[in-house]
Amino acid sequence: MQDQLNALKLEAEQAIVQAADVVVLNELEVKFLGRKGELTSLLKGLAGVSAEDRPKLGALANEIKLSLERAVALRREGFEQEALSKLAESERVDVTEPGKAPLQGHIHIVSQAIDEITDIFSKIGFTRTRNPEVDWDWYAFESLNMPGDHPARDEWETFFMDAPVSKKGKMVLTPHTSNAQAHELERGEFPVRMINIGKCYRRQIDVTHVPMFHQFEGLCVDKNISISHLRGVLDYFAREFFGPDRKTRLRPFHFRFTEPSFEIDISCGVCGGTGIGADKQKCRVCKRGWLELGGAGMVHPNVLKASGVDPNVYSGFAFGWGVERTYMMKEGMKLDDIRTLYKNDLRFLQQF
Ligand code: DAH
Repeated sequence: MQDQLNALKLEAEQAIVQAADVVVLNELEVKFLGRKGELTSLLKGLAGVSAEDRPKLGALANEIKLSLERAVALRREGFEQEALSKLAESERVDVTEPGKAPLQGHIHIVSQAIDEITDIFSKIGFTRTRNPEVDWDWYAFESLNMPGDHPARDEWETFFMDAPVSKKGKMVLTPHTSNAQAHELERGEFPVRMINIGKCYRRQIDVTHVPMFHQFEGLCVDKNISISHLRGVLDYFAREFFGPDRKTRLRPFHFRFTEPSFEIDISCGVCGGTGIGADKQKCRVCKRGWLELGGAGMVHPNVLKASGVDPNVYSGFAFGWGVERTYMMKEGMKLDDIRTLYKNDLRFLQQF
């Protein structure tokens, strides 16, 4: 029995040392030291041993058990250390390595332009207002001296809402930001110095039109406001937004809501207003030295009257331009397709 015990010890010790991993080690533990393991079954034989040999053999068996248990514990610890150092190696952090900057978005170019326009006008006392983008016909047309049957309305390619009609007419998606004029005037607080920047909607889509675009609308109404104020504001804006060398000019035009009316042109930044490009050909951006910015004029007396303002006491000027257009003129940028602005193509957007 003593030999058997010693042989078992030897075999078990070798196996434990050679165990390839924890799984094998666990199996060995069960095999030799488990409740139904080899040591236990050997010990069952103690019953048949003489009474005087029994304590000696019992002590030996106990010693072997403890020694094997230690061997298993030691080997297990070894495996744990090994696993930890492998982990430490694979999860190693090099604190001196340069960081990876997370991808960062930025404000869309149209929003950038809106912020800039807002800032420029706020410096001369124009407050940005917000007005409904779904509004009554009254604000979009009627109050602007465009009665229901007037053909001028055709130019605005309007989206009408499928909604009940009120005293103020049908509901429309605002086709221009001029709807803000009556909203401001009917409050009856003067002076009015507003800059309304908002979305406009028209039933048009092609390379130069998108059905949703932005305009900014200026309105200044007070006593004794004249064309020279309009000119002053236009020149100020042109210098601030486009740069000190740019000039504006007024071209007579016609709008129902202004009298007199103008179209505002700005000298082209690419050819410096000459209309001739660096290659001695016609300038590819403007072709004639000037770019058309948008409309302006002195507020028509009928517009003032429609909102209960006395045109004999008050006068004013207004202007309304497209944000997208104005921004492109600033950059000297010729977008072959304006729809690109709203296509969410990062290759395009990340350039700005
Ligand atoms: N609302 C006009 C349009 O969308 C632009 C405009 C022209 C606005 C003249 C004005 C203005 O305030 O005075 O075409």
